[in-house]
Amino acid sequence: MVSHEPVFIHGAALYNIDCVEGARRHLQDGSVDLIFTDPPYGIQSDRLHLHYNRDEGYVLDGYVEVRKEEYAEFSERWIKEAERVLRPGGSLYVVSGYTHLYEILHALRKTSLREVNHLVWRYSFGVFTKRKYISSHYHILFYEKPGGERTFNAESRFGFSERSEDGRSPNSTDREDVWMINREYKPGRQKNRNELPIELVTKALQYSSREGDLICDFFLGGFTTAKAAIGLGRRFVGFELSPEIFRARIDEIRSLEEGWLLPKVRKPHLSSHVNRHKRWTEGERVRLKELYSSLKEQGCSKKEILEITGRELGRGRWGLERAIRRFIKKKNPNIEVDTDSPDK
Ligand SMILES: C[S@@+](CC[C@H](N)C(=O)[O-])C[C@H]1O[C@@H](n2cnc3c(N)ncnc32)[C@H](O)[C@@H]1O
Repeated sequence: MVSHEPVFIHGAALYNIDCVEGARRHLQDGSVDLIFTDPPYGIQSDRLHLHYNRDEGYVLDGYVEVRKEEYAEFSERWIKEAERVLRPGGSLYVVSGYTHLYEILHALRKTSLREVNHLVWRYSFGVFTKRKYISSHYHILFYEKPGGERTFNAESRFGFSERSEDGRSPNSTDREDVWMINREYKPGRQKNRNELPIELVTKALQYSSREGDLICDFFLGGFTTAKAAIGLGRRFVGFELSPEIFRARIDEIRSLEEGWLLPKVRKPHLSSHVNRHKRWTEGERVRLKELYSSLKEQGCSKKEILEITGRELGRGRWGLERAIRRFIKKKNPNIEVDTDSPDK
């Protein structure tokens, strides 16, 4: 029996109902800050679930699939609804395999939503094949609704000025558009047919939302988005059509504590100007040049350039200005560099 009544747990509203119907009934225009969702992949006789579950006995029954002939229309319906409920500046992440990627992209392009990044989620241990390459990635389409400021907490996981032992920036590595995250194998535990690793959802929520924001998942499945949202102290609303799948996870959600992930997630080191008074290395000069050109190209103001490069390199304003003047002068020896460089 499908109940339209929500289950409220830890400020999360969970509905055992079709997502389009649920959103129309329960979500106002512009009310959601972030949607993270993973629609059914529309492949009936596939081996997809083998990627996720080594032992079929533990795969939950009741998963509702979408027929491939209906996939395009299905995608248009729910994506249109997602566009409506997102606030201007809100973000949408859609996980997709390659089979119906085209239909999802097509549906997205019929809306006002704008692409921010096309991410690739790479995992190891794809299903073994002999006569072709082994699939080891999914797509994550990251879109925004125009008309408002999008949340992007660039230092939510690693500070700009942090360095690994080999001198690399973990902040830049973490923000690359290929995410290497392995799936979770939980032997002996019931799982949704394609349950996402919580690490993956947590990462997107850390970058694209703040505590107290309203997060939504149109296709709850194993409730991974709900777990991450509750764990990070966000509000949550979600929909799942299958009564079996819905029922299977409610007790687990009840047993969670609000903010349970907060003590576990890494705290970024945000100390600024840690390198002030130290000699500039060649690597730092190259990085400054790269950053400067790319920020100028993006139309950043002088203040923004100094702020961002300062945080990334752990340098103060005067040192940065001197270094920038130096490379501008080197590139154009005849130019008289204004002391106020970098200019707008
Ligand atoms: C790919 S799974 C989601 C997996 C989830 N992200 C996780 O980590 O476990 C898609 C889910 O959407 C559900 N579903 C299919 N059609 C739906 C609809 N119209 N409304 C809501 N849920 C639906 C399926 O039953 C399935 O549980």
